[in-house]
Amino acid sequence: MTETPSPSSPKVCSYEGSGYRTEFWEGQGRDYEDRTERVALRRLLPPQGRRLLEVGAGFGRLTNEFKGYDQVILLDYSSTLLREAQQRLGKSDRYVYVAANLYQSPINDGVCDAATMIRVLHHMADAPAALAQVRRSLAPQAVFILEFANKRNVKAILRHLVRRQANSPFDRTPLEFVELNFNFHPQYVYDVLSSLDFEITRVLALSYLRVGLLKRAIPTDWLVKVDAILQHTGAWGAFSPSVFTRNVVQSTTPAANFDGPLFKCPQCGATDWLEDSHKLHCNHCDTDWAIEDGIYNFKSPINAD
Ligand SMILES: C[S@@+](CC[C@H](N)C(=O)[O-])C[C@H]1O[C@@H](n2cnc3c(N)ncnc32)[C@H](O)[C@@H]1O
Repeated sequence: MTETPSPSSPKVCSYEGSGYRTEFWEGQGRDYEDRTERVALRRLLPPQGRRLLEVGAGFGRLTNEFKGYDQVILLDYSSTLLREAQQRLGKSDRYVYVAANLYQSPINDGVCDAATMIRVLHHMADAPAALAQVRRSLAPQAVFILEFANKRNVKAILRHLVRRQANSPFDRTPLEFVELNFNFHPQYVYDVLSSLDFEITRVLALSYLRVGLLKRAIPTDWLVKVDAILQHTGAWGAFSPSVFTRNVVQSTTPAANFDGPLFKCPQCGATDWLEDSHKLHCNHCDTDWAIEDGIYNFKSPINAD
């Protein structure tokens, strides 16, 4: 389902009330994908850190990979998926659950030393704007692990060569194959990341073996082992359906702000808050944002007209 949260926001692919966990993952034959993504994360992400922002965390499928971080912020547009994440991970200061639109992210500048964004960019109609929001929340030298769906993959190239696919996998424009589902050319993504002052330090090519026949015929353990070897070929060029990148913030702005306020008001940008157990009140623009049983809701203010 698509939503237009505000006139200034691009459309959003809403997972509110969706069965993403049970209908896409659990018991749905995707152990290979889940396990290879964990292999990639362990290779790319520093094992320890202060605060990690998990962008589009969903139901927290991958959050147990971030055990070495003092705090994990799970940001997602879907309150229902965040509620499932909270049920899996529990309520504690280590996990901060934030329902928000990434395009209007409430996460303050420079407050994180790591971020991940897995299986999320493909829903971004304005990828540069979305990635700029992630970048803003990162301190100098922070590490950002970004996964994206690759339009220049082997299957698309072969189909294009035998004229079974009209659009060219070599064209750098993002391809919207279903509404709010985009495949990206690697160079397009690398250019956006570079323009945001990220240095791309490693590329892994994932899911070459994501073929129904192979998944049925070959034990998952073997597929994962072969995938783990093939992932390294990303260094020479990614032609796989899924690509993981490790990106390091190069510039010195914004400065690290680990001890400052975690949130900035999506309405006015101020960071002067009054918090009680039910709401955050912005002292600058007098907007109230709900805290619903441990989940911060920045999707729309309580006192909106
Ligand atoms: C395919 S799911 C991936 C979830 C999780 N990263 C995983 O791999 O299991 C995409 C997620 O992105 C979230 N999402 C999509 N657009 C968003 C936006 N504009 N702001 C915040 N989250 C968004 C959805 O709610 C959904 O949970």
